[in-house]
Amino acid sequence: MIKEVESLSVIDILKNNFKDEIINDFVINPFNKTIIYEEDGIKGILNYDLIYDRIEINYVFVFNDYRMQGIGSKLINYLIVNNKFDNITLEVNVTNKKAINLYKKFGFTEITIRKKYYHDQDAIMMIRMG
Ligand SMILES: CC(C)(COP(=O)(O)OP(=O)(O)OC[C@H]1O[C@@H](n2cnc3c(N)ncnc32)[C@H](O)[C@@H]1OP(=O)(O)O)[C@@H](O)C(=O)NCCC(=O)NCCS
Repeated sequence: MIKEVESLSVIDILKNNFKDEIINDFVINPFNKTIIYEEDGIKGILNYDLIYDRIEINYVFVFNDYRMQGIGSKLINYLIVNNKFDNITLEVNVTNKKAINLYKKFGFTEITIRKKYYHDQDAIMMIRMG
């Protein structure tokens, strides 16, 4: 039988079975990075991949009680100011007006619609040039 599974579900199996191999080279993604906003604990997280000259934002998340206080903006601003890149791309749910507004505020523009990107909902793909 051959089938597709969740990537996360096989990481421990790989680690346990290939102890002598250079498994970290491909199990741990060295291009994946995270920025946190911390002030009396973590209040916001931005996760992205930096692949040479290209950045892909995977998610920006600000905890409920701390939203609309500029934390999401600080995270995006930190990413832009502290990296050299040709472009940043991301996908955002078409219904997520807060996040779309946040990204537009930082110069992201819409490129295309990715159909059913989030299960049954579409995503807008956005880009910001470096
Ligand atoms: C989207 C999110 C990260 C914004 O974080 P935040 O810290 O509240 O954002 P900021 O306070 O820095 O606001 C930045 C801009 O976002 C937009 N925005 C934020 N909250 C908004 C709201 N409730 N309604 C409309 N626009 C909103 C505005 O354009 C705002 O700029 P302004 O203050 O100049 O008007 C936050 O709402 C969140 O974590 N949402 C859940 C996770 C998510 O959807 N992440 C994005 C997809 S991966």
